[in-house]
Amino acid sequence: MKNVALWTDLEGRHFSVNELKLPHLLPLIEGLDFPGQDPVILDVGGGSRSLIEHADFGPERRPAIGCIDIAPSDIMHMTASRVRHFRAELDDLTSGRDPETEGQLRGFLHRWGDPANPGADAMVFSDVLNYVDYKQVLRWFDGCLKVGGFAAILNGVGRGFFTAFSDMGVQSDIELLDYCDGDLGYQQVQAAHLPAPSEYGDVLLAAFQKIG
Ligand SMILES: C[S@@+](CC[C@H](N)C(=O)[O-])C[C@H]1O[C@@H](n2cnc3c(N)ncnc32)[C@H](O)[C@@H]1O
Repeated sequence: MKNVALWTDLEGRHFSVNELKLPHLLPLIEGLDFPGQDPVILDVGGGSRSLIEHADFGPERRPAIGCIDIAPSDIMHMTASRVRHFRAELDDLTSGRDPETEGQLRGFLHRWGDPANPGADAMVFSDVLNYVDYKQVLRWFDGCLKVGGFAAILNGVGRGFFTAFSDMGVQSDIELLDYCDGDLGYQQVQAAHLPAPSEYGDVLLAAFQKIG
């Protein structure tokens, strides 16, 4: 296992789902202007359960949520419908060493997505880009995002354990924002700094749209 800060290691320490992620990330996802009825959402590094399951998309919408993680998943407690879990090392997936997971993932997107404009309506990178080769991961998953779809990012530079912290992770907010709107050509929809409940500094919350 490389470049990984296990979710369980972080729980109860410098990290707060209740204070940080649920109150800030979920409204951002819920507020995205999805073109279709039932959005297909991919939670990259979603942990053993995707936080996005807690989002409220209204009674009419039934999102399809895919969650990729190396951690064991406990699907017994899933509440959202159409949830699929994929277990993979992001490094293996993005470098082509895990064709099986890639096949499953593409099958999920194909099954629930729009055949005329394939891919996810939104991708979520919550507290994960810091632990991986973030440019490689964002670039690879860009191929899973439909045109008009959104990338939602929550990230704290320096967050996590230094032993597990990848030097390919995000070094500064500016660098991350530049990569999204410069290299990937995304259009920034919003970006804000959240006060973090830790000594690690602020957390960036941003959303981008893939425009072409
Ligand atoms: C701090 S947790 C965040 C979990 C969840 N996204 C959230 O916001 O609650 C970091 C996540 O990234 C995943 N992760 C980090 N590096 C990874 C890698 N190389 N391959 C797969 N998953 C990875 C971990 O397993 C973990 O679930």
